[in-house]
Amino acid sequence: MAMQAEAKPLIERYGLQNIEGFFGEVPTELYRGIIAGKELCIVTLGRQHGVDLVGCEAATLATTLAINMLHPDMIINAGTCGAFKANGSEIGDVYLSEGPVMFHDRRIGDDPLGIQSLGNYPTYDAHQMAADLRLKLGKCTTGSSLDCLDEDLAIIKREGGMLKDMEAGAVAFVASVYKTPLICVKSVTDLIDGGEKTIDEFRRNLSMASNALRDACTKIIQYLFVDQPTLF
Ligand code: ADE
Repeated sequence: MAMQAEAKPLIERYGLQNIEGFFGEVPTELYRGIIAGKELCIVTLGRQHGVDLVGCEAATLATTLAINMLHPDMIINAGTCGAFKANGSEIGDVYLSEGPVMFHDRRIGDDPLGIQSLGNYPTYDAHQMAADLRLKLGKCTTGSSLDCLDEDLAIIKREGGMLKDMEAGAVAFVASVYKTPLICVKSVTDLIDGGEKTIDEFRRNLSMASNALRDACTKIIQYLFVDQPTLF
């Protein structure tokens, strides 16, 4: 998870303990607990210069360290996102990732097939889980900005992107390198085609969307730890 505001409701839900200094001088933070006999770790990106880190650089660092130091059976990249009302999305909707995670703001001239620029790193097939838990499915698309340039929008539309965030692509890249299964869980804070300035809508809905994220993640953890314990 990226920001503390996104992770706090879930950390409190399970009473997870902050393991201070676990990642040494790196700002990445670890919260840990035992749920139904299994270990649940929440890793957040931490803070630098007095603000919460967001984005691909910190997500790459955190995911690499988490995989190497915690050896997870699976990764859940849980966070908030922008979505499109044209796709029927509403504020507070929670989605599971469908298909590969792409990047929408990497324009590399000599990459005719888009392999390097889009990335398209795999995720675990969450169709059954989404049906069982009544969660929506959508393709995650990642960039380094909260706002959306026309060039980005054209790529998102062309490739069928539905959930725009700032970390999933980086987490999915690292998970693919280490062959660790990944599911993204994304809660909608803002509608990119809704007409409002994204940062204002994001700030207004962050707390509500983070509570919706907690509720969905609680269902997913129950599903993976208790109801379907042989999946991973
Ligand atoms: N996180 C929440 N809303 C977002 C948006 N519109 N773009 C990127 N990341 C986001």
